[in-house]
Amino acid sequence: MNQRVLTGITTTGTLHLGNYVGAIRPAIAASREAGVESFFFMADYHALIKCDEPERINRSRLEIAAVWLAAGLDTSRVTFYRQSDIPEIPELTWLLTCITSKGQMNRAHAYKGAVDANLAAGEDPDAGITMGLYSYPILMAADILIFNAHRVPVGKDQVQHIEMARDVAQRFNHQFGRNTEFFVLPEANVEEDVALLPGLDGRKMSKSYDNSIPLFEGGSKGLKEAIARIVTDSRLPGEPKEPEGQALVTIYDAFATPQQRADFRAALRAGLAWGEAKQQLFELIEAEIAPMRARYDALMAHPERIEEILQQGAEKARAIAGPLLARAREAVGLRRFTAVAAPAVDTAKAAKAALPMFKQYREADGQFYFKLVSAEGQVLLQSAAFAGGRDAGQWVSRLKREGTAALAEAPVQRGEGVDEAALAAALQALAEAEAS
Ligand code: TRP
Repeated sequence: MNQRVLTGITTTGTLHLGNYVGAIRPAIAASREAGVESFFFMADYHALIKCDEPERINRSRLEIAAVWLAAGLDTSRVTFYRQSDIPEIPELTWLLTCITSKGQMNRAHAYKGAVDANLAAGEDPDAGITMGLYSYPILMAADILIFNAHRVPVGKDQVQHIEMARDVAQRFNHQFGRNTEFFVLPEANVEEDVALLPGLDGRKMSKSYDNSIPLFEGGSKGLKEAIARIVTDSRLPGEPKEPEGQALVTIYDAFATPQQRADFRAALRAGLAWGEAKQQLFELIEAEIAPMRARYDALMAHPERIEEILQQGAEKARAIAGPLLARAREAVGLRRFTAVAAPAVDTAKAAKAALPMFKQYREADGQFYFKLVSAEGQVLLQSAAFAGGRDAGQWVSRLKREGTAALAEAPVQRGEGVDEAALAAALQALAEAEAS
């Protein structure tokens, strides 16, 4: 089976260069690999937890969708959708909520962090904390489990959430899946080397530190201005510079070939001016980003095109999520009271599979025997020994045709622990199948 890779981005803001390098670019590259089936989505239900500005949320999901597409996502290979277009996700969230222990949610980093901040401020521990924030990891588990994803590329801060998703999957499998793998247990994929692009000040690039380089916002001018603000040391032009540990060099690396990386370091050690180095960095990034920016602008001018792509994506996603949710509902006991008419072939096949079967065989003693075995493998009927295979075969045919009517005369015994009614029902089912 294909490896299913799934990841989502919360739609609360505008993406920066770090999101592109750390999440979008590697995800798109992975989606082109053979044997990989990718699911990428806008986590807009998650956005509601963190943001109560409708305009901002709506704008953000449009922008983020446009970024994915502009960056080269092939939607014919990948399932690309908005979380909120898949009603199966919140429904599965509830089924999972009912088997998730509250104690485990108490330990979730995001919630604990908020409680700690409240305590530090002398507030009520739960001040300003919604049930959305509290249950955040369960919604995320549903995102992942509804598609039975194997791998989830995420940043380090999300690893705990993937572990929680594994736990809840395991619990469901145990409680309702008869210990089969009803849900695949997902694994977090943290790509160490691309996970953290430094920001202008050398700390992790993040909106909240106000140190990010915009991806498309502000155009090529905005990119250039941001790069000009990258903090360096104060060595003068001509002075040898130590490249390692410089944010500028780490950012350069994220866009460079190994040869370019070596050359850039050599040039800095030989005294390249920081201003010149920034110009080179700008040109390097711009070469990769500019064509995407053009596509991005074209897409943003036609939101209806993005909408259409996402509608198709939702359809593709729901074709998988729908049947899985139906099985989950069935498993927890939310069933119809009438037998659901399944497709004709399936019913015939299932009925046949459930029928008991006669088995004829020869033992080491050279004698011939037969037995009737239920679909579950229980011996319902055991024959006496026959000198010839034909005798055994004739009794099998008679029992199939006549059912219980032949039972009194047949040289057979009921299997251990099998009651008369169960045996009669099995023979009856066989006789009916024979007649039809
Ligand atoms: N919580 C993730 C983040 O903030 C976004 C997200 C939501 C996600 N659902 C997901 C990531 C499922 C991976 C899989 O980064």
